[in-house]
Amino acid sequence: MPNIVFEKVEKSYGAVQVLPPLDLSIDDGEFTVLVGPSGCGKSTTLRILAGLENLSGGEIYFDERPISALAPKERDVAMVFQDYALYPHMNIARNMSFALRLQRVPAAEINKKVRGVAEMLNIAHLLERKPAELSGGQRQRVAMGRALVRDASTFLFDEPLSNLDAKLRAKMRIELAEMRNALDKNMVYVTHDQIEAMTLGDRIVVMSEGVIQQQGSPEELFTRPANKFVAGFISSPTMNFFDGELVLEKDVLWARGTGFLLQISPEQTQRLNGHAQRNVSVGVRPSAFSSDPAVGSPIELELVVSEYLGAQSVLVTRCGGKDILVEIEGRAPGTAGTVMTFGVPQKDIMLFDQESGGRL
Ligand SMILES: Nc1ncnc2c1ncn2[C@@H]1O[C@H](COP(=O)(O)OP(=O)(O)O)[C@@H](O)[C@H]1O
Ligand SMILES: [Mg+2]
Repeated sequence: MPNIVFEKVEKSYGAVQVLPPLDLSIDDGEFTVLVGPSGCGKSTTLRILAGLENLSGGEIYFDERPISALAPKERDVAMVFQDYALYPHMNIARNMSFALRLQRVPAAEINKKVRGVAEMLNIAHLLERKPAELSGGQRQRVAMGRALVRDASTFLFDEPLSNLDAKLRAKMRIELAEMRNALDKNMVYVTHDQIEAMTLGDRIVVMSEGVIQQQGSPEELFTRPANKFVAGFISSPTMNFFDGELVLEKDVLWARGTGFLLQISPEQTQRLNGHAQRNVSVGVRPSAFSSDPAVGSPIELELVVSEYLGAQSVLVTRCGGKDILVEIEGRAPGTAGTVMTFGVPQKDIMLFDQESGGRL
């Protein structure tokens, strides 16, 4: 498996720049997830890697060998497309064997490969059918199987689960995780879904508008987001942000704004020494609020709507005219209009620069 390196890779369509110069390295044998909102350039990055789009600048290296001049089939890369792109007139066996037949692999070997992969993906009983005779989930497996029979060194997945319903998506996510452990290959997986990113990735690359915001392990991104975008994107429900200012009073630092006054931890205060007295965005995850107002600083939130999910509820509350999400165990302790007091623990407060969004 090659180490893959993007060096100042750029892509423009006419005057529109989709990828500003982008540096990225994918280590040997890694499961890398590219995640970001729709339109941020994920598919473009993957298609450039597969050779389906030309670069507008920069170079891609496989083990230090430049590959941008190579045709897709010379790159030892197999891709699973978001819309599956199966041939409707061919049965599943022929769909899966298509690339191998092009490569003139002997028929006996093709049959063995196709059967092996079909069994792994639980579609061996469907090999004679046409794509139209399969469910969405089965088609998805065929698309995956068609890539896997190729034995490429690098597999590219473009949102392979996005057309499936929520239950099937969760099931396929687990199967993919199992497959990831069984196959010792480079995998680059594109998704807009942060849960897929968190559960599948050895390393996650978070993109926004063609720019890599941060890359790291799921834990790194969750506990040490580089900026407000990453913090908001890598959590579900998303992180709350309160706009306010920092004020230092007798060596104690507070974040203050409409409807809240939160004490900042001594460690953070020390770290922020030069940053005291400035405008900030205060980030608190929905799960961080304590039902005990004595934990950290108390905050009053007015209940607007409660979404009961069984083990927990997600409360939509209001503070200073802003919606704030709170995750609690069990049911909401009241009805709409009830004012509840929660505690905001010091360790769960993240501070971001209001202009740049960078974490302080
Ligand atoms: N062939 C094209 N011509 C012009 N613009 C394109 C083309 N393909 C993609 N784009 C634009 O590039 C941006 C990134 O697209 P894409 O990589 O498909 O995003 P993602 O996969 O993250 O949703 C989008 O704004 C899209 O409109
Ligand atoms: Mg896409």
